Amino acid sequence: MKASGNRLTREQARELLAKLDASVAGSRGKASREALVKLLNSSVPTYSWVGIYVIEGKDLVLDAWAGPVATEHTRIPIGKGVCGFAAKAGRTEIVSDVSKDPRYLQCFLSTKSEIVVPISNQGTVVGEIDIDGDQLDAFSSLDREFLEAVARKASNVWS
Ligand code: SME
Repeated sequence: MKASGNRLTREQARELLAKLDASVAGSRGKASREALVKLLNSSVPTYSWVGIYVIEGKDLVLDAWAGPVATEHTRIPIGKGVCGFAAKAGRTEIVSDVSKDPRYLQCFLSTKSEIVVPISNQGTVVGEIDIDGDQLDAFSSLDREFLEAVARKASNVWS
């Protein structure tokens, strides 16, 4: 079955960005990231697991997450995995089928696709949003556009 139901719509993206302004931007730092992952995971059914990693030296360190289970990958070297690749390249990565991507580091057996969106501050990557989907091809150019706008908001309240 082609997974098209329950995906993000343009209207929902607009509503969520407005909600983020009210809830997430009302806090700063880790508290804002905790609120952000909760809101994304609970609002969009295709966002099965949502995490934010922050850069610490040469590693990405898991700072906030929301989803059914914890991941063992709480520290990922920059350059490793889809997460490390996106951080190094400084650009969004969409993997429509993780089983076909040799960079993929497995966290959950249920994951079929993934999107990783860097968060930048004055041109430097400071962290990233990592979302795992339980459906193949769960993330479209709309998710990319939406999450890049979310990343800019997260950057505004980073510390
Ligand atoms: N799959 C990621 C690792 C992080 S887990 O998805 C939470 C990767 O390939 O970098």
